Amino acid sequence: MLTLLVLLVFSSVFAADPSAATEEVGIDEKALSYSGFQVWSITILSNGEREILRKITEQYNVEVWKEPKTDKAAATELLVAPQVQKELKVKLTQANISYVIKINDLQTTIDNGTAKHNTSSINTKAGHSMDWTSYHRLVDIYGYLSYLASTYPGRVELINIGTSYEKRPLYVVRIFNCSSSVVKPAIWIDGGIHAREWISPALATYIIRQLVEVPANEALLTNVDWYIMPVMNPDGYEYTHTSNRLWRKTRSVMSWTSCRGVDPNRNFGYKWGGLGTSTNPCSEVYKGTSAFTEPETLATSNFIKSKASSIKLYLTLHSYGQSALIPWGYDVVYPSDYSDMLTLAKAAVAKFSKYRYSVGNSAALYYPAAGGSDDWAKSIGIKYSYTFELSDTGAYGFLLPASNILPVCQDFFPALDVFAAKVATL
Ligand code: ARG
Ligand code: ZN
Repeated sequence: MLTLLVLLVFSSVFAADPSAATEEVGIDEKALSYSGFQVWSITILSNGEREILRKITEQYNVEVWKEPKTDKAAATELLVAPQVQKELKVKLTQANISYVIKINDLQTTIDNGTAKHNTSSINTKAGHSMDWTSYHRLVDIYGYLSYLASTYPGRVELINIGTSYEKRPLYVVRIFNCSSSVVKPAIWIDGGIHAREWISPALATYIIRQLVEVPANEALLTNVDWYIMPVMNPDGYEYTHTSNRLWRKTRSVMSWTSCRGVDPNRNFGYKWGGLGTSTNPCSEVYKGTSAFTEPETLATSNFIKSKASSIKLYLTLHSYGQSALIPWGYDVVYPSDYSDMLTLAKAAVAKFSKYRYSVGNSAALYYPAAGGSDDWAKSIGIKYSYTFELSDTGAYGFLLPASNILPVCQDFFPALDVFAAKVATL
């Protein structure tokens, strides 16, 4: 439904001409409106109900935002377009399934979350325009990275690892303390694989700031190097700012369809194309025509592989759900050293004081989904590999208000002590 709407609104932009691929959607281009869209929360009580709900969502092409955990009764969250609300209500009532309207008008929630936008007027005093009280455009984020690299040359290296489909640079920052020349074990952190999960790049940049600019955190660099890629999918991220707040995928163009983008977290090359992926380019979980078709996943994986002997921990930041997910994610299968991974994840989330996280196997806790970056990292021998689904648990979901950025980041940062201490021993 969502994709259909996007097509209707932007059919001119989406003309299936690959040469149009680098054409940017201008900021003044009218953004897709979610006026009248609602988020419904449904608690399934039995497998029978689960099956009925699956059929209904399929029939009406309703986007499932959050799936119930397979092992227990939990809420399903649906994005419901205005034109199907009446019929869906009838169907659910007939099936005796009750629902709660969590968000009454999605556009209002979006507007509230984007009202106070900082669109890159360089704060001359600071030398950059980054802060953690609002969500920022890519220009602010990249501006901050280059500010850091030029201000702290002995601690920060800005590495351009490639370009996105729409030709934006892909940046990794290496944060280090050059006191010794031996190669230290390293931690990799990425954000922004999924475009609409804005809290993810916000946390990744916050971590960069803490490691680089806060002297009290210097000990974290003593025995460990850090590679942080705050925005893995910059094209999608910009698109969520200019055109469709709920875009998830990359922005690549396929010659045979007007639907755009591949789910980068179904495009990594381990168990590619398995459960929880789609061959339909209009799907939110479209896997691409083969593994690593996307310049973003290809560049990222090549870079990580080139550092694979030093990277001991892979951490990828998503939202939402407040969970630490452990491989494998392609199916409910447990690596032989699963208990090591579980122990470390539990110690890390025990550092959180404001938010409670659940910890467990990705496929068991969420759903099986193959081709994820976490599984791929694990498969190349990075022992500790995690997906963190950040806050919240669904009240705002992807539209987490900017006032939550600092609380989420401050709560999260101490967990890195636990990761760094472990990695230092490897
Ligand atoms: N919400 C994430 C996604 O759907 C979870 C990924 C977990 N990892 C996995 N390999 N399935 O992409
Ligand atoms: Zn995600």
